[in-house]
Amino acid sequence: MTSKTILDPMNSATIDIEPAVGRASLTHRPRRLRRSEGIRAMVRETIVRPDDLIYPLFAVPDNRPKVEIGAMPGVWQLRAREVVEEAKRAADKGIRAILLFGIPEYKDAIGSSSWDPSGPVQAATEGIKKALPGMTVMTDVCMCEYTDHGHCGVIVDRKGTKDVDNDQTLALLVKQSLSFANAGADFVAPSDMMDGRIGAIRRALDDRGMTDIGIMAYSAKFASGFYGPFREAAESAPQFGDRRTYQMDPANAREALREMQLDAEEGADMIMVKPALSYLDLIRVARENFNLPIAAYNVSGEYSMVKAAAKLGWIDGPRVMNEILTSIKRAGADLIITYHAVEFAETYKG
Ligand code: PBG
Repeated sequence: MTSKTILDPMNSATIDIEPAVGRASLTHRPRRLRRSEGIRAMVRETIVRPDDLIYPLFAVPDNRPKVEIGAMPGVWQLRAREVVEEAKRAADKGIRAILLFGIPEYKDAIGSSSWDPSGPVQAATEGIKKALPGMTVMTDVCMCEYTDHGHCGVIVDRKGTKDVDNDQTLALLVKQSLSFANAGADFVAPSDMMDGRIGAIRRALDDRGMTDIGIMAYSAKFASGFYGPFREAAESAPQFGDRRTYQMDPANAREALREMQLDAEEGADMIMVKPALSYLDLIRVARENFNLPIAAYNVSGEYSMVKAAAKLGWIDGPRVMNEILTSIKRAGADLIITYHAVEFAETYKG
């Protein structure tokens, strides 16, 4: 067998190769489709648009200062008027949906401040709808920011063990949802993981003629370490125990499908998988099993990891952000809730 000697341009060494390998007559050369940015753009399968993104914002009472979240650079606790300013800035960049969280003036055992008509979420919702009528306002519905114990519902004592009571909590979630809907929210987004909440909220809205208010259900929401930075932002860390009796076990995929099925049957308009990155397989399961819009939540810990590594110079932050958002959409999400929303939209070249 004759062998040919070629020059290795990298180190000017010579190596011997078989002639057949040198100029193979290959039938398939996928690299032809990657030769230039023009060709790559032409065959690109997944494109994230600002319209796909939902931008979360944290509203605090007017007597509190504007504060940046330590583990979430670029994310702030804002007073209602500052939420409106930030929503305007986002709208200018092409963002069309906001998800609101609230930190109330006072907390108690049942989270009663959550249905105060002058609460921070209600005020921010009214302000955004007035300034930007076309902006879609979604409000997270959950008790954990409003309860003094930090759990997502009513605490009961069962033979010495504290637990969150499902059915008593439904009544509170309904009150909170109605209050946000009255303030002008387009969608309420229950994130508590109580059984039957979608049906209960849907019935309550319909009974009051609020049939146009949608429900984005946090359907497959896992008990996740990736929520750590959020709990600083929302001041909602549980004061004892954890959320494993209501949020899902990260090991369970079939159960996630069941949760999504129940929410769809109860009348959810959109279903969500949360967090996104460790659960891309479930975003795909959602896409393949439902004809509803699928949302995915690119959560706080996922954001913080990118920001921290980029700050240390260990990764290229904007590049990784693009790759992450693309992967979530490629997995099957129609909508992505992300703290990167404005940053992404700023560099979007539609
Ligand atoms: C509950 C809620 C949480 C998040 C959204 N809604 C926190 C939790 O369940 O403890 C997490 C969002 C994030 O980490 O970005 N109100």
